[in-house]
Amino acid sequence: MHVNRRGMALVAALVSALACAPANEPSSANDHLPGAPGIGDTDFPKDGNGGYDVTHYAVAIDYTPASKQLVGVTTITAGATHGLSSFNLDLSGFTVRSVTVNDAPATFSRQGDELTVRPARPIDNHATFTVKVSYAGVPKPAGDGSNLGTYGFMPTPDGAFVAAEPNGAKTWFPANDHPADKAPFDFSITVPAGVTALANGEMVGQPTTAGGRTTYRWRERHPMVTYLATATLGKFELRQGSTPGGIPNLAAADPRFTTSIDRLYTTSATITDHWATVFGPYPFGSTGGVVDDYAAGYALESQTKPLYGGFHPDETIIAHELAHQWFGNSVSIKRWRDLWLNEGFATYAEWLWAEHKGTKTAEATFKEFHRRRAGDPIWKYPPGRARPNDLFNQAVYSRGAMTLHALRRAVGDQTFFALLKRWAADHRYGHVTTDQFIGLAEQMSGKELSALFDAWLFQPRRPQ
Ligand code: TRP
Ligand code: ZN
Repeated sequence: MHVNRRGMALVAALVSALACAPANEPSSANDHLPGAPGIGDTDFPKDGNGGYDVTHYAVAIDYTPASKQLVGVTTITAGATHGLSSFNLDLSGFTVRSVTVNDAPATFSRQGDELTVRPARPIDNHATFTVKVSYAGVPKPAGDGSNLGTYGFMPTPDGAFVAAEPNGAKTWFPANDHPADKAPFDFSITVPAGVTALANGEMVGQPTTAGGRTTYRWRERHPMVTYLATATLGKFELRQGSTPGGIPNLAAADPRFTTSIDRLYTTSATITDHWATVFGPYPFGSTGGVVDDYAAGYALESQTKPLYGGFHPDETIIAHELAHQWFGNSVSIKRWRDLWLNEGFATYAEWLWAEHKGTKTAEATFKEFHRRRAGDPIWKYPPGRARPNDLFNQAVYSRGAMTLHALRRAVGDQTFFALLKRWAADHRYGHVTTDQFIGLAEQMSGKELSALFDAWLFQPRRPQ
């Protein structure tokens, strides 16, 4: 589901219709054109695709840790946003065995990470269609030599650690792999008996075992960005229950990290419930976290189940990943340059958690950062424009958080915290841009804030 684009497309269609009228008919709903190979994020021109909105993913994988072989069948339900003679999916690696569209065999071709599907019959504008891709091979994680490291489907000795931000979903299933298109997911994951499969949302039924292989079914019923999808596999100890506030809670830990499980379980519960009082109702059906033995050294805010790669998570990082459930996962970005709306908010949540605990005020944390010398790299990098080759720069995190604190100072606590709740409520399960945030901040405060946001988000120097 992909919010607002239809509205924009309508405006564009009206404008072009007016521009060409009356000599030409506006392009008719019966025209069938190839869908664009990218969704329109100029910083990531090939990511995502044009011409359709996904409304559901059904991802079925069979994975064997010993051979690293993945056999997959992904069925995507989508709505066409113009007549389609062909359309693209993003998929990296694998051999594609077959593609069907509405159950009829389709032809397909591949170029780089673009899988082009030509259905036997063209798809009309607004039509709903299903595309089913069967594929197999050894997943190759992504990693582009920038500051991202390796991401996507990463094998571990006992399974896999699957953390795909920003565009590594395509390393394990065909997708419209960009945050601008969200959809609910069903997962069916088959692994050797004894291996546990952890995916987003809640488990559907009990795992079934036949012929030495076990199938786990998980469902994330709320819209989800593709990079948040996970199928983390391995040996896990589990602790399950509910938060005091009544949200189902699941903590999982690799055998090497079982000493973390009780702390992960209780801290995730406490913080989820606390954020619900600060940011508004929890947007998803369950919470928790997974500690795996993949030595990533980082965490990802995978929807409903943040992943912690190879370390014992402390309260600060748990506060960060759980804040992302509101900011990034429920309220998602339309384009990567606005990433501070995810990372600046989650980092500010770390400061708010310390303030709540009484260990340090956000004001003190802000001042500590603000004191950094004028030559510190954090002042050179304007966080309001995250760079494609350096998306996860520290400025996006810390200067993004400082932006929120500068705003809090300018508008006062009452307006600031009302704004956070309103932002999460107005855009629940939706998409946003930085301009929308500035607009809401100005509207709710009644103040002109463009100088503040310009200095904090867009200038390559330390703000006053
Ligand atoms: N969003 C993550 C965080 O700040 C960081 C991150 C970016 C990441 N890309 C990743 C984590 C890939 C794991 C894999 O919490
Ligand atoms: Zn983060």
